[in-house]
Amino acid sequence: MLPLSLVVLGCSIPCLAAITQGSFSVLSYNVAGLPEPLSSGSPSTNTPLISPLLGQFDIVQVQEDFNYHAALYASDNHSFRTSTSGPALFGSGLNTLSNFPFVDLQRIKWKDCFINEADCLTPKGFTFMRVKVADGAWVDIYNLHADAGSQTGDINARKSNLAQLAAFAQTWSVNMPIVIYGDTNSRYTRDNEALHSLLDGLNVQDVWIQVVRNGVEPLPGSPANACPSTFPSGTPQSQMIACETVDKMFIRSSAAVTLTSITITNENDAFLDSAGGPLSDHFPLSSVINWQLSSAIRLADSIGGANNDPFTDLSLAALGSVPRITSITLRGGNRLDSVSVTVQYTNGTTATATHGGQGGLPSTLALQSNEFITQAQICSGSHLSSTSVFFLRVTTNEGHTLSAGKSTSDCQTVTVPTDVGEAGKAWGLVGFWGRSGSEVERLGAIWGASY
Ligand SMILES: *[C@@H]1O[C@H](CO)[C@@H](O)[C@H](O)[C@H]1NC(C)=O
Ligand SMILES: *[C@@H]1O[C@H](CO)[C@@H](O)[C@H](O)[C@H]1NC(C)=O
Repeated sequence: MLPLSLVVLGCSIPCLAAITQGSFSVLSYNVAGLPEPLSSGSPSTNTPLISPLLGQFDIVQVQEDFNYHAALYASDNHSFRTSTSGPALFGSGLNTLSNFPFVDLQRIKWKDCFINEADCLTPKGFTFMRVKVADGAWVDIYNLHADAGSQTGDINARKSNLAQLAAFAQTWSVNMPIVIYGDTNSRYTRDNEALHSLLDGLNVQDVWIQVVRNGVEPLPGSPANACPSTFPSGTPQSQMIACETVDKMFIRSSAAVTLTSITITNENDAFLDSAGGPLSDHFPLSSVINWQLSSAIRLADSIGGANNDPFTDLSLAALGSVPRITSITLRGGNRLDSVSVTVQYTNGTTATATHGGQGGLPSTLALQSNEFITQAQICSGSHLSSTSVFFLRVTTNEGHTLSAGKSTSDCQTVTVPTDVGEAGKAWGLVGFWGRSGSEVERLGAIWGASY
């Protein structure tokens, strides 16, 4: 028997209320895994000690995971982990160990490096992935390892590195919540401009600046408030987190998901050897990030492949009010060629968003004034050695349907959220998100409480 408060009106069978908030923990750790004796640590001894300690964090991102990768994963049980990109000289040293599934992993090499500190010897860079923390809670996660060193060439390389990441995220993470964490090799005192290409370019917040420093950045040009290489046993957390590390965490909310973090922790005490010494030459930094779904706009899972460019109609809703669809047009033949919605805002203004190409035959459904789309069936299949969307059928609250493409054996049906929408409004389709080129490659519904 379910507690009464969990039974939601509107479910035809008893069903659980949607989970609309929660939290997840993240860990950023440079594990000093260059081959000995190049490594600044003792990875052959320490990596096996680090491995079983990673399990207490939901999404771990490591840097310098080069030549001891197998040992790092050996005693870890995260369900979703990236494959190594190779040892030093070949790989970026970046990996992610997650309790949540992810899609769209990309490894991107920096355009610029500076020869000092051997930065150009291995292809450092950043990774991007879209992680499903919970239903509706899709979060774009970035890991990075910027150029090291303190020469002018290093400082300029870091400016280029962080600007490159910002430019990428401006395309790939439009209207998405973002968490960026890793080894920036940057300090506000020395690399203010580099850090501000993230802060200003992406409108992210530095968790350490917000939580520990009350929003106040260390002054550019002032002496570095660097941490000692290790802390004596018994050092209070407040002291360990007061100094500035180059390992940093940034977060940003979206219209659909609010992210907040009120903790950042130097995990020094949890990552020590039996003699009390640190397991790497960087500190492990953790944070607990709270997420909350909007009750006005919500992302459903997207279905399909990882080809071509990302798109999102969340931009329609990010304008301030969530619109309603007045008509929808699909083009299809053997597969789904395009989706197009025309929406209307409460002030009467209309807008149209179209994704995909001109192939296939079009068909249109004009919605009546109290009619809205409550269900979408999306089918995918293999096409040109990738996965793409073959079929879409939408169904309205009045039982009307519109479909395009050809059905496959791999279909998913999604329906509107079950929790009550903002201002008591009913949920209906307001747009799509996914990836498209000349056809639709990946497709997910965006639900809005505007009906
Ligand atoms: C990983 O899973 C195995 C098998 O269930 C277990 O023996 C081991 O203790 C787990 N490791 C950690 C670090 O939790
Ligand atoms: C109507 O509302 C939309 C969404 O808030 C806005 O973008 C648009 O400028 C408004 N149009 C007028 C004429 O006020």
